[in-house]
Amino acid sequence: MGRVQGRVAIVTGGARGMGACHARVLAGEGARVVLTDVDGAGAEVAAGIGKGAVFVRHDVRSADDWARVVATAEETFGAVDILVNNAGTAVHEPIERMSEERFRGEWEVNTLGVFLGMKAVAGAMARGGRGSIVNICSISSLVGEAGAVGYTASKFAAYGMTRVAAKEFGPKGIRVNSVHPGPIDTAMLHDAPGSEEAVLMMKRMSPLGRIGAPEEVSAVVLFLASDEARFVTGAGYVVDGGLLA
Ligand SMILES: NC(=O)c1ccc[n+]([C@@H]2O[C@H](COP(=O)([O-])OP(=O)(O)OC[C@H]3O[C@@H](n4cnc5c(N)ncnc54)[C@H](O)[C@@H]3O)[C@@H](O)[C@H]2O)c1
Repeated sequence: MGRVQGRVAIVTGGARGMGACHARVLAGEGARVVLTDVDGAGAEVAAGIGKGAVFVRHDVRSADDWARVVATAEETFGAVDILVNNAGTAVHEPIERMSEERFRGEWEVNTLGVFLGMKAVAGAMARGGRGSIVNICSISSLVGEAGAVGYTASKFAAYGMTRVAAKEFGPKGIRVNSVHPGPIDTAMLHDAPGSEEAVLMMKRMSPLGRIGAPEEVSAVVLFLASDEARFVTGAGYVVDGGLLA
């Protein structure tokens, strides 16, 4: 039996990077997956997983889109048991150069998107009598990252909402936890300005001397999604190779 056998998972931002990896890992352990993204490349990721996965084009900033995603999960697979709020965006500007528009834009994906997702799945999870929500935050939810004011603010907020939701949803049988990756080998990390230098510096600062692989974050997501974590809620798991230590 797989560790999430028969569960139905929604994974946002599944077209590439860590989201695609979380979807594959959950499917590999028996979950059926609704993989969503604004990027249509998610359809290929779902096709690669096979008949246990469907792709829905989905903007996490839209409540209407969220309603379609939940309806697709219930109509196609009969339930919603797991939500991985993974979609995210990172803008690199110091406070004095950051425009109000870009600040709002980043907040809409990383904070509003997480709020709308938790709100959208709560009813379906409560109907099923169980649920696990995993909000992908960041080490930038725990310490300030210079040059990333919108990212840091939006990820601190997502961490705070995780704890509120854990308290509100616990009585419904829904657990809510956060995962805080450090530098992970995806486009988001490498596309950042000055990333080569930053990666070298983080490798030097990290006790493990390297950046992480998406699979190393998926392993924690899988644990939190599964019944192995049945007494874990309102918790934040740092997956950073010891960088914050
Ligand atoms: N890579 C890292 O070092 C790192 C570190 C800490 C946290 N994170 C977080 O992990 C998550 C995944 O990051 P990644 O590195 O795989 O990034 P990525 O840029 O490779 O993937 C992000 C995905 O989110 C999608 N997306 C963006 N806006 C969206 C929207 N409005 N609606 C739906 N989908 C949208 C993108 O199309 C993309 O497929 C993000 O929340 C990110 O903030 C990443």
